[in-house]
Amino acid sequence: MPNFQSLQLKLNRYPIVANDSLQAWNAADELLIEHWLRSPLTSPQRIILINDDFGAIACAINKAAQEISHRISIDWFSDSYVAMQGLQQNLATTDLNVELRCHNSLADLPIADLVLYKVPKILRYQQFQLEQINGSQTAGTTILASGMLRAMPASVFKSFESQCDDFSTSLAKKKARLIFAKTQKSRQIKVKPTSWQAQDYPYQLSEHSNVFCQGKLDIGTRFMLQHLDIKADRVADLGCGNGLLGLHYLTQHPSSQLSFFDESCMAVASANDNLKRNLGEKINQCQFVQTNCLEGVADKSFDLILCNPPFHQQNTVSEHIAQQMFKDSRRCLKNNGRLRIVANRHLNYKMYLKPLFSNINLVASNAKFVILDALC
Ligand SMILES: C[S@@+](CC[C@H](N)C(=O)[O-])C[C@H]1O[C@@H](n2cnc3c(N)ncnc32)[C@H](O)[C@@H]1O
Repeated sequence: MPNFQSLQLKLNRYPIVANDSLQAWNAADELLIEHWLRSPLTSPQRIILINDDFGAIACAINKAAQEISHRISIDWFSDSYVAMQGLQQNLATTDLNVELRCHNSLADLPIADLVLYKVPKILRYQQFQLEQINGSQTAGTTILASGMLRAMPASVFKSFESQCDDFSTSLAKKKARLIFAKTQKSRQIKVKPTSWQAQDYPYQLSEHSNVFCQGKLDIGTRFMLQHLDIKADRVADLGCGNGLLGLHYLTQHPSSQLSFFDESCMAVASANDNLKRNLGEKINQCQFVQTNCLEGVADKSFDLILCNPPFHQQNTVSEHIAQQMFKDSRRCLKNNGRLRIVANRHLNYKMYLKPLFSNINLVASNAKFVILDALC
């Protein structure tokens, strides 16, 4: 009986970073794959696979499919551009033995025989996805889910219990656990995008369920909003989330061109919704792009880049993304361009900015945050 190790997959995170000690899968992926490998296939299998971080689960099924006579199709769903690139990169090293279709997190799910599901970090997103699954499948379809224990508080299990039938769990192994459940008959999506009024600002905002800081103003964002007083023509909101920084910038500087970038499909969709809703007459001055940092953006495109950098990649705390954002910003800024960031005081981002930029200035600070300008 093959196990995860015996499949001998070559898996990398995306993008590949020199001397990266982080691996592209975790024990929750291993547990889920090994359970699937132990379930004998008696007929063709249509699989829906959701939140597969760097494509490890799809690659494992693809490899195992070499030895299986039944046809396997995978409809692969993710909110993340990075995850989708990770899947493509890791699959490119082998032959394709399955039918594979990739979709974003807002696309409709097709009918399947089995749903494989990695539990996401945000509970509202999990609730939305369980509603998506229930709403698209016949009642009684098997859901096999997995997650790391640290990312599965009691609320995760409660939500499975209330949204699915026949809920049970495995014992924990290597700090991961499986969840077994069946879909319930339901056609309703009750988890709608949030809708709220930003305190002290004249904006009505909304976010899809996987977007950073839903229904409230992040304190770092709030501090940055007070420091957008630099005039520039071409401006980027890098890691835009719901787009509030760019929205407020454009309100203050109505003749600027704004570009919003995020790797999350739901973030980009939310930023687009918020610009249309609050500054619809300026929408032709905006573009919205789902990408990894500024991948695919031409050199010297911007005069100013605004950024509240993330410190997670998928479920792992990491400064890689902030570093990549700084490098990409340097490349995409014009000669006299400026990167303005807000950062937690304890993060020593100056160390990464100094080798790239000619000057780093402290713009403002409070008990928790600093605002820095990096000048080209
Ligand atoms: C701290 S949040 C800031 C959101 C928003 N700008 C704000 O200030 O409220 C960081 C954002 O970076 C996005 N992000 C994470 N990794 C990214 C990547 N590799 N490329 C682009 N955006 C990324 C996240 O999806 C998230 O929306």
